Amino acid sequence: MNVRITGTGSALPGKILTNAELEQLIDTSDDWITTRTGIKERRIAADGEYTSTFAAAAGRKALAMAEVKPEEIDMILLGTVTPDFPFPSTACIVQDLLGATNATAFDLSAACSGFIFGLSIAEKYIRSGSARRILVIGAEILSRIVDWTDRNTCILFGDGAGAAVVEATCDSDGLLSTHIFSNGNCWNLLFQPGSGSRNPATAQRTIDERLLYIRMEGNEVFKHAVRAMEEAAIAALDSNSMKASDVSLFIPHQANRRIIDAIAKRLCLPAEKVFVNLHNYGNTSSASIPIALDEANRSGQIAKGNIVLLDSFGGGFTYGSALLRW
Ligand code: UT7
Repeated sequence: MNVRITGTGSALPGKILTNAELEQLIDTSDDWITTRTGIKERRIAADGEYTSTFAAAAGRKALAMAEVKPEEIDMILLGTVTPDFPFPSTACIVQDLLGATNATAFDLSAACSGFIFGLSIAEKYIRSGSARRILVIGAEILSRIVDWTDRNTCILFGDGAGAAVVEATCDSDGLLSTHIFSNGNCWNLLFQPGSGSRNPATAQRTIDERLLYIRMEGNEVFKHAVRAMEEAAIAALDSNSMKASDVSLFIPHQANRRIIDAIAKRLCLPAEKVFVNLHNYGNTSSASIPIALDEANRSGQIAKGNIVLLDSFGGGFTYGSALLRW
């Protein structure tokens, strides 16, 4: 059985936080953020908005495009590092919000690669005949685990969600392959020290020592990201006997414009084939690729038959790729 994305959706908070507003909060400048990252603004969830809020909204839009009813979904896979709660899974809450009563639902933790890891699991379930329709979601509210006093990280991240309906198809087009990888040797270069079993919550640890918040060795992560995303992209192309010149649209994880440019250069991909929207949203972790895919899809930047390459990298480290013939 082949596998196809039949609907995409995304949902973002209404509130925009610009670089100019960040200049008022911390010692930074629009010029530094723009030249070092490419980010101009990001979306920030309001009180009363949760990861499940955006995940369900993105899922609803993807289902509408695919013309699939919630009860026809067999599985909901939700990549996130900012779930509503440690448990139950946010996927179960989304199942409830959507009325996807026949779906098995669970979260998966692969940081910024969460959507690609979910797509890979969906692909295997559908190819094996164990499921027909799977809703894959990447959703984050990173603003709630960002240290707003740390200029090294707080300028980077934003909130939002993206989703895709993945279905069994008899067409030869569709999802051609997925490749997912991990490098646990580097887990401590990008992580959230508090709130887990290693540093259980106390006022001192969680708040005073700021263990609740994202910690990142930016320079090291940057170098690993370029190498790993190149490796994942080449794995996708090689396994389909394709070259980078066959790719119509490259949709990389949106973390830093300089990372995207470096990978595009290594793959010899011209700028017009590289989708970039991080100036609007910053790094939305697992949501970045499905938001970008939805924007590219809805704006007509992907035509039937186009070869689309998705490429991710995140904490863990995790990285991966998916190659599609649209
Ligand atoms: O999604 C998962 C993957 N995550 C990533 O891919 C993130 C990867 N890393 C990065 O994107 C970059 O490393 C950063 C954007 C985080 C940092 O850029 P950089 O070019 O690596 O800067 P740096 O950390 O080497 O810092 C350069 C200077 C430092 O000052 P000194 O020590 O040279 O005086 C920093 O203190 O820039 C300073 N700096 C800032 N200045 C103004 C760091 N953050 C800021 C800031 N505003 N926000």
